[in-house]
Amino acid sequence: MSPQPQAAVGAPLSRVDGRLKVTGRATYAADHDIKGAVHAVVVDSTIARGRVTGIDTRAALALPGVLKVISHLNAPRLAYRDDPNLNNPPGRRLRVFQDDKVLFHGQPVAVVVATALETAQHAASLVKIGYDAQSPSTDMSGSDRTNEPATYARGDADGAIGSAAVRLEMAYRTARNHHNAMEPQATVARWDGDRLTLWDKTQWVLGTQNELASVFGLPPESVRVISPFVGGGFGTGVRTWPNVTVAALAAREVGRPVKLVLTRKQLYFAVGYRPVYEYGVRLGSDRRGRLTAMTHDVRAETSTYEDFTEAILVAGRMLYSMPHVSQTYRRVPLDVNTPTWMRGPGYANASFAIESALDELAHEIGVDPIELRRRNEPDDDESSGLPFSTRRLRDCYTTGAREFGWHRRNPKPRSTRDGDWLIGTGMATGVYDVLRSPAQARVRLDADGTALIESGTSDMGPGTYTSMTQVAADALGLTMRNVTFRLGDSRMPPTPPHGGSQTMGTVGSAVQDGCDTVRRQAIRLAVEDRESPLYGVDPDGIVVRAGRLHVKDNPVRGETYQRLLARNERTHLETLGSFQPGESRFSMYAYSATFAEVAVDASLGLVRVRRMLGVCDAGRIISPKLADSQALGGMVGGIGTALLEHTVTDHRDGRIVNANLADYLVPVNADIPDLRAIFIDGEDLEAAPIGVKGLGEVVHIGVAPAIANAVFHATGRRVRELPITAEALL
Ligand code: MOS
Repeated sequence: MSPQPQAAVGAPLSRVDGRLKVTGRATYAADHDIKGAVHAVVVDSTIARGRVTGIDTRAALALPGVLKVISHLNAPRLAYRDDPNLNNPPGRRLRVFQDDKVLFHGQPVAVVVATALETAQHAASLVKIGYDAQSPSTDMSGSDRTNEPATYARGDADGAIGSAAVRLEMAYRTARNHHNAMEPQATVARWDGDRLTLWDKTQWVLGTQNELASVFGLPPESVRVISPFVGGGFGTGVRTWPNVTVAALAAREVGRPVKLVLTRKQLYFAVGYRPVYEYGVRLGSDRRGRLTAMTHDVRAETSTYEDFTEAILVAGRMLYSMPHVSQTYRRVPLDVNTPTWMRGPGYANASFAIESALDELAHEIGVDPIELRRRNEPDDDESSGLPFSTRRLRDCYTTGAREFGWHRRNPKPRSTRDGDWLIGTGMATGVYDVLRSPAQARVRLDADGTALIESGTSDMGPGTYTSMTQVAADALGLTMRNVTFRLGDSRMPPTPPHGGSQTMGTVGSAVQDGCDTVRRQAIRLAVEDRESPLYGVDPDGIVVRAGRLHVKDNPVRGETYQRLLARNERTHLETLGSFQPGESRFSMYAYSATFAEVAVDASLGLVRVRRMLGVCDAGRIISPKLADSQALGGMVGGIGTALLEHTVTDHRDGRIVNANLADYLVPVNADIPDLRAIFIDGEDLEAAPIGVKGLGEVVHIGVAPAIANAVFHATGRRVRELPITAEALL
């Protein structure tokens, strides 16, 4: 087959849904006005551990318009079926209103349903809960309980460190972070007999469908989940949280559709978060910085009822070359809600520790940080023995150093001043797994020359609607205008979660596969049709451009899809495209190098990022404008992690103290300087047929350590805890 001309892919196009979004016509979960819907407001526990001893609902029920107050005292027993298809962590998930136990502060203990939102809010404030409270354990540092550790070892790390010419030992810590997506978790639930429809904020309609089916003991076909737009996710919508069950239960109990929108405050305890990490590193190297061994001792918080684990250990065993590695990962069960994935899950925290440690080693032995990384660049993946599919990290370093002006750097810390400000630069490496799961997309080319592609994925912001339209337009040979891509409905073909940077590679490959198939169907129809100008032509020599099939080297000879389908009395051509990853003999990761320049006020300890450059090896870039936007967003998030974001818990009662956007600091416009992203060209056909490795995580991973390393270079002070506060620098 002649490759299709690529007109849309690679072009810096604006979002196809941009106008809908900026004019407020994009329907997010809570925007769905479902006839007859009433409102639910959750009552949260004010203790972190213990039992509910009584619930007084009299004052709430006395308010006109209140329909029902539901709690464990009157809720029906729910099936809570175990289902291996769910992506919940091991353990026993929170079962809402099934017993009197309180497992964390802010746990839903009742829900008020009323005809008006304001009535429900007021009534919720009137519900009186009695507790038998026990003293909670919410501080990881103060707990020595741990779940069964995950471990990894090769060689003899302790022995190698013992005999190394250079030995370092450091302890790093990263704060709990919350996603703080613009759109809150929100659901409208409607029952039609035994069938449940949910309009929900989710990054995985299929996951929410399966979760609700298992909670209510329904066949999955009886649950439909609709989610056409997601107002930011960062991981918070990859798992289905109990609020969705609460909405569905409330709707069933009152016999009307129910809308339930979590408050900003509830988003700090009713859904997951990035857990606190303690990450101990010991390393050994020779005098020239060739690593011989590293140990990684990691502790992270989890809940008492689920054992949340993530890929915190991977980077430490494959990013740099060394014969000896030893790792342990312990989860500490606490009286907290279960943590979850947040942008660059695991890898971002690991990278703060590992990339800070490399910077410490570089300083210790007087080797340039980039040169140190080059000296430890592996030939293949030493954790699996597999060759890398593509690894263009050296190119990231070279391009980054050149574009950032790294050679102008005086390696001596605290050597550059600008008035009151100490100036420093730092860099760090990022790595993220290429996730590969099966995905499907339905492709339909209509006789009017337009195409409709559907896949049950989502778009939390990266621009799925746009990038998939680009892929489909080129594979079908249509203009962008004649292609419609739809997503966000569990009735559409299945996909993996819209997370872990896997949507473009997996769903994109399915879209491309389906569109290639339909284009070939049309070409076959033409070359076998005596009436077609393409009759008898070698199908391999035909391309389609702007809806017209023609001989590649003779554009005059051809006809449009419309003519072809009309003459053959075909209303449409249709297929189900798929991506089915096979066993791979390659190690597949996306890479990045981030460069940061900071200014630190010498007397006040304030840190200001002055400029930042991210250089990424993410495979093929489908949509450069959206990729740029992803990368800048990832850097903004990294500035937050490095300098501002910190969920603070009062360990006396397990309450989150700063559960609002005034006290939980995120970067604002004035915090964001000159940011730039560069993508190293190149496709990775092992990662996915579409050549994409994935972008959304790797642009964020490495940002925080690049800033931390720049702060050290500016001040000579090594801060091993995130966020880096002024107090730590005084
Ligand atoms: Mo994410 S943590 O890949 O939504």
